[in-house]
Amino acid sequence: MKVAIGCDHAGMAMKNQIVPVLEELNIEIMDFGTNVEESCDYPDYGEKVSEVVSNGSIERGILICGTGIGMCIVANKFPGVRAALCCEDYSAKMSRLHNDANILVLPGRIIDGNTAKRIVKTWLKTDFEGGRHQRRLDKIKAIESKLK
Ligand code: RB5
Repeated sequence: MKVAIGCDHAGMAMKNQIVPVLEELNIEIMDFGTNVEESCDYPDYGEKVSEVVSNGSIERGILICGTGIGMCIVANKFPGVRAALCCEDYSAKMSRLHNDANILVLPGRIIDGNTAKRIVKTWLKTDFEGGRHQRRLDKIKAIESKLK
């Protein structure tokens, strides 16, 4: 699996904690930055990751900012992106089982590194359940098409 990852300055420390977890899982990582501590704008990095997930060139993405809210707003503007802001394991699991979330958003200033690592592992290993949930995703797709 390939995973695109991106963050702003408020998410960089957490990104640096998560990258080794992805490496351990033999995941191919595309790191879109930021990789410097200077203040930057989360939409710039959210856009890069969301773009490659939206166009299908990379299967999954992980975005991190201070609260996760900004990155989530950006990501969910992109067609086909289903971004889920998760602060604990249960939401991470459900975002895969029921929502087939293809971008995980984490709040770098709210949860600790170990919680983030656990969330990432759960999110990556959980498969979409399909069935009635696919019907609901189809409805989201129909809404996207209507709004085009
Ligand atoms: C940056 O200060 C902060 O606003 C950003 O990381 C994020 O929390 C926005 O939603």
